Amino acid sequence: MSEVAFRAMTPADLEAVADLTHRADPFGWTLRNFSDAHASGNTLTVLTVDGVTSGIAAVMHVLDESELLEIAVQPAMQGRGYGKALLAQAIALARRNGAVRMFLEVRESNARARKMYTSFGFEETGRRKNYYPTENGREDAILMTAQFSRSVPHD
Ligand SMILES: CC(C)(COP(=O)(O)OP(=O)(O)OC[C@H]1O[C@@H](n2cnc3c(N)ncnc32)[C@H](O)[C@@H]1OP(=O)(O)O)[C@@H](O)C(=O)NCCC(=O)NCCS
Repeated sequence: MSEVAFRAMTPADLEAVADLTHRADPFGWTLRNFSDAHASGNTLTVLTVDGVTSGIAAVMHVLDESELLEIAVQPAMQGRGYGKALLAQAIALARRNGAVRMFLEVRESNARARKMYTSFGFEETGRRKNYYPTENGREDAILMTAQFSRSVPHD
């Protein structure tokens, strides 16, 4: 059995986190994006599998709302439940922080991520036309929202 763990990202993680994100999504966050998010006090959660940095999630908190800014799993590790584990951890941390809802934006073409979000109770609540660049043009962003109950989950 692999040992799965979560920890708060530190500056020492920046290169590994930026590298895995770039491999997972060439349009995903850069080292600078992660560094800025860390400096801004966002919640950055590193997923390790047997001690190896394998995923990252970034969440911004504003009052009782949260936004999933980025989530990525190392391509070689995808499809094994780690994305769901990371999302569950990001949601649990947000709820412990007082969030009653979480927002996110996802590419219309990103069927895998959209399916994962739907399975966590996210619903489509909007659309931004031509929001994201693609290899040969632009595509829409789907806005999704999940509502949480006020009771906060415990460990
Ligand atoms: C989205 C992402 C984080 C999911 O991580 P993952 O480890 O592959 O996901 P999991 O193995 O936990 O699977 C989560 C769900 O994704 C879907 N999924 C996983 N593998 C899939 C595949 N090969 N085809 C279609 N859907 C798939 C399923 O709905 C799955 O849930 P299920 O097993 O209950 O059916 C990962 O694919 C990734 O890093 N993608 C690139 C970055 C990205 O798109 N981030 C989202 C930006 S909004």
